[in-house]
Amino acid sequence: MNSKEFFNQFYQTTKDHYYSQSLFTFFNQIVFSKLPQRELKILDIGSGSYSLFEDCTGLNAHVDAIDFSKTAISNTPISKINYKLLDITDAHHFNFPFYDLIFDSHCLNCITSEDDRENAFKNIYSALVVGGIFASEIMIQPIGEHVSMPFKSIKSAQEIEQTFVSHGFKIIYFMISSESGFSNSIGGIEVKCDLLRIIAKK
Ligand SMILES: C[S@@+](CC[C@H](N)C(=O)[O-])C[C@H]1O[C@@H](n2cnc3c(N)ncnc32)[C@H](O)[C@@H]1O
Repeated sequence: MNSKEFFNQFYQTTKDHYYSQSLFTFFNQIVFSKLPQRELKILDIGSGSYSLFEDCTGLNAHVDAIDFSKTAISNTPISKINYKLLDITDAHHFNFPFYDLIFDSHCLNCITSEDDRENAFKNIYSALVVGGIFASEIMIQPIGEHVSMPFKSIKSAQEIEQTFVSHGFKIIYFMISSESGFSNSIGGIEVKCDLLRIIAKK
C-alpha cells in the first residue's frame, strides 16, 4: 500500500470533519499577524475533507484547499473554499506565483520520497508571490531519540531548516515544542515526536 492508498482508505472510514486543532491555533495566534491586511490568496495543502479555513470566519481570502486523496475530496462540504484533487508534488499546477500564503496542514510529513519532497518544496516556492509566506506545522525527531512511522517522513529540525533555506526561503519564525508533540501507537508501543512550527518568506 502506498501513501495515497492509505489516505483513500482512511477517508473512507473517517467521515467526520477533521483537522488538528493545533493548526487552527497556529494560524490564528501566529501566522495571521504576519500577513498583509488585504484580501488574501491562500493555498491549504493536504486539507483532507475539511480545511481549517472553513472555521476562520471573517477572514478576507480566496482559499484553495488541495488533497491527493479522491475520497477526501469527494467528502468536502459545499462552501466558499475551492477544494481540488491535486498532488502538491505535481509541477503542472504550481508554476505561477499566485498565493500570499501556503499553509502546510501536516502534509509534508506524509511525503516520504525524497524526489517528491524536493518537488513539493519547489512547487510551494514557485506558487508564492514575492514576499509570500509559507507556514508549516510539522512533526520532527525528538531530541536524543529516533522515531519512525509508517507512511511518514520525520526529519530533524536541522534538516527541515536546511531544506527551507536551500529552496530560497527566509525563515522568520522557528519554534520547537516537545509538549505539543504528536504521538502514535505503533505495534502497541507509544512513540512521540516533537513539533516544529515554521514560518518562512519568499
Ligand atoms: C496527516 S493528514 C492531515 C489532514 C489535516 N490537514 C490535519 O491537519 O489534520 C495529511 C493529508 O495530506 C494529504 N497528502 C499527503 N500527500 C499529499 C500530496 N502529495 N499532495 C496533496 N495532499 C497530500 C493526505 O491525503 C492527508 O489528507
